Amino acid sequence: MRLRRASCVVCYWYEGEFVAHPYPGPEPTAVHPAAAEILSAFGEWVEPAKAAERLDHLTPATVAEAVEALFEAGLLLAEDSPQATRDAEVAQQWATWSPEASFFHYATQDLRYPTEEERQRLLAEGCGQDFPDHVLFTGYPDAPRMLLPRRPAELRLPYDQVLYARRTHRDFAAEPVALDTLATLLATVFGPVDFIDSGHEVLFRRTSPSGGARQELEPYVAIRNVDGVDPGVYHYNLREHSLELLSPGLTDKEAAHLCADQDWAGGAAFLVVLAAVIDRMSSKYRNARCYRVSLLNAGHLGQTFALTATALGLGPAQTGAFHDTAEAERCGLDNVGHTPVYVLAAGHPRPEPENGPPPARLDTFSGSVLHRAAR
Ligand SMILES: Cc1cc2nc3c(=O)[nH]c(=O)nc-3n(C[C@H](O)[C@H](O)[C@H](O)COP(=O)(O)O)c2cc1C
Repeated sequence: MRLRRASCVVCYWYEGEFVAHPYPGPEPTAVHPAAAEILSAFGEWVEPAKAAERLDHLTPATVAEAVEALFEAGLLLAEDSPQATRDAEVAQQWATWSPEASFFHYATQDLRYPTEEERQRLLAEGCGQDFPDHVLFTGYPDAPRMLLPRRPAELRLPYDQVLYARRTHRDFAAEPVALDTLATLLATVFGPVDFIDSGHEVLFRRTSPSGGARQELEPYVAIRNVDGVDPGVYHYNLREHSLELLSPGLTDKEAAHLCADQDWAGGAAFLVVLAAVIDRMSSKYRNARCYRVSLLNAGHLGQTFALTATALGLGPAQTGAFHDTAEAERCGLDNVGHTPVYVLAAGHPRPEPENGPPPARLDTFSGSVLHRAAR
């Protein structure tokens, strides 16, 4: 039987052990680091005896024993087996995003959550005592601050109008955004709505859902064109409803640069960088799937931001493309425990957007693939 190394494998050291992690499933296995050399002899379909010839500094018995263990662990696959077919399919489909995205996607699939009973038992046994505290709010007590007005700007447009009026804007007017408008937007999207008793501690809720109500996403506001606010990068302190100045000044060029040099971002009145506070998630969840939840949370906040900005007469935008390191530096984030995950933007839209896409016409439809049977 000919064997080949699985295409979808990531190896790493974890708690002192060398681990080979095939994906999708089976479980990761701790192996001797020399296993990597043995696996390297199986780059294409080969009989184990033939592969052993390439490993002539090892005895055939050692190779045979290792091959058996690597096969059991799903790191070597048998020719024409369902596992080999699946491995090839995943490798081909995810090729351009591999290994980073495919590994994260599959390694966090089908994770079993402990039942509440199991969780309580684990807690009673002392598990979780080394978890970080859940700290509800971030604040910069020494930063110069502006307490924001609490006079709400009007948010009364009918829901259907807001929903269908929302568009991503990339063309902004020079008119500054009123401070009341910014304050209303920040409070509506990021401010606490109410406080709840989780059974262990107080948590708060926002207008957007948040996995486990961890509210791990902190808003950092890079202001360029807001009435009465000096350009600069601020933290929105949602407990106090204030802007805390972290670093002064913001040019159009820099705003665009922070958003991966997308020119439109330089015209926005302000950007909001959502930064994940990792401890707020890991204070409850040890499971890597939780990172997915954090990205989903960012999407929810992004949608609430876009709808609220629209209802306030602003043009919203958002970008997944940004210079993470530059952004973290500008917001004073360590990019370790506080790390940027999403950037939102808004400003007064130009009445006739110049950069908006034209509507699709008959020839656009003709040149597009409209249907393919699902696999
Ligand atoms: C997660 C996410 C990331 C995006 N990133 C960018 C981006 O980097 N640059 C950009 O110009 N638009 C970006 N957009 C906007 C999309 O291009 C836009 O939503 C899409 O064209 C549909 O248009 P609509 O938002 O007006 O419905 C992003 C949207 C989302 C939801």
